Amino acid sequence: MRITILGSAAGGGFPQWNCNCRNCAGVRGGTVRAKPRTQSSIFVRADAGVDGILFNASPDILEQIRARPALQPGRKVRDTAIAGVVLVDGQVDHATGLLMLRERGSPLPIWCTEAVAADLRQGLPLFEVLRHYCGVESHGVSPDGPGFELPGVPGIVLRALALAGKAAPYSPHRQQGTPGDNIAVVIADRQRGTSAFYAPGLMEISPPVFDAMCTADAVLVDGTFWTDDEMIRLGLSRHRARDIGHLALSGNGGMLDWLARLPSPTRRFLIHVNNTNPILDEDSPERAALAAAGVTVCEDGMEIVL
Ligand code: MLT
Ligand code: MN
Ligand code: ZN
Repeated sequence: MRITILGSAAGGGFPQWNCNCRNCAGVRGGTVRAKPRTQSSIFVRADAGVDGILFNASPDILEQIRARPALQPGRKVRDTAIAGVVLVDGQVDHATGLLMLRERGSPLPIWCTEAVAADLRQGLPLFEVLRHYCGVESHGVSPDGPGFELPGVPGIVLRALALAGKAAPYSPHRQQGTPGDNIAVVIADRQRGTSAFYAPGLMEISPPVFDAMCTADAVLVDGTFWTDDEMIRLGLSRHRARDIGHLALSGNGGMLDWLARLPSPTRRFLIHVNNTNPILDEDSPERAALAAAGVTVCEDGMEIVL
């Protein structure tokens, strides 16, 4: 299978429209060596296939499709390689791109948990809005349920894992989590026998989650923040990383500690990187520490073949 990183940044993208933090101002002004990034999304297809699965629909989806012509094949007058959309949560950066896909001629097939579907019917009623355009064909995903495939993408088997995380800020269960607010997805290629573990929002690594990470050939995990208090120290927020559903990379028990415990052949990738994160600066000591640990920071357009 081929995994295309459509967007490697967290909500807001990089540089963020209203941000003058060191990274955002530096990449705009050319004083920091870093690559701009769009918001969190990946596309996965089997080796031989044209059609694939969009994981999360970011508000940057149209720009992402324009940048990757393979997502818009020319088999008929209106065409797309997006056979269906899988949502790992109902966050604004992962769901609002659904509206941009409204010109379809048939209902948009979406796979998500009941908790996320409820949020997208009520708190952020995108499903209701889309009813007036292409419509939505909503499929349930049970966390910790059996593997499933999407029609039109044979051989790519998905399995959802429940995560302890946070629902989106608009959700009625933001403070009191519901199982299914956040999932990780194990993406397996049946023919090749390979798999990837995908979790752009990963706050807590439970034993079953770590088992799934250990058995994957590649992990694409939450690289949002370097430190738990990153946004507080920059004066940009009152929230710690863990308050908003993210495990920081550094520190005791941070994401890098977990990645260091994976079997040595596992390929390690960070996705959903916030614009404040020093790892975006390619000349930073934090980025050098990742290189030494064998951890890759995803960039838009990167392809991972497994
Ligand atoms: C998050 O995952 O915390 C988001 O990136 C927040 C957002 O979309 O604004
Ligand atoms: Mn996000
Ligand atoms: Zn910034």
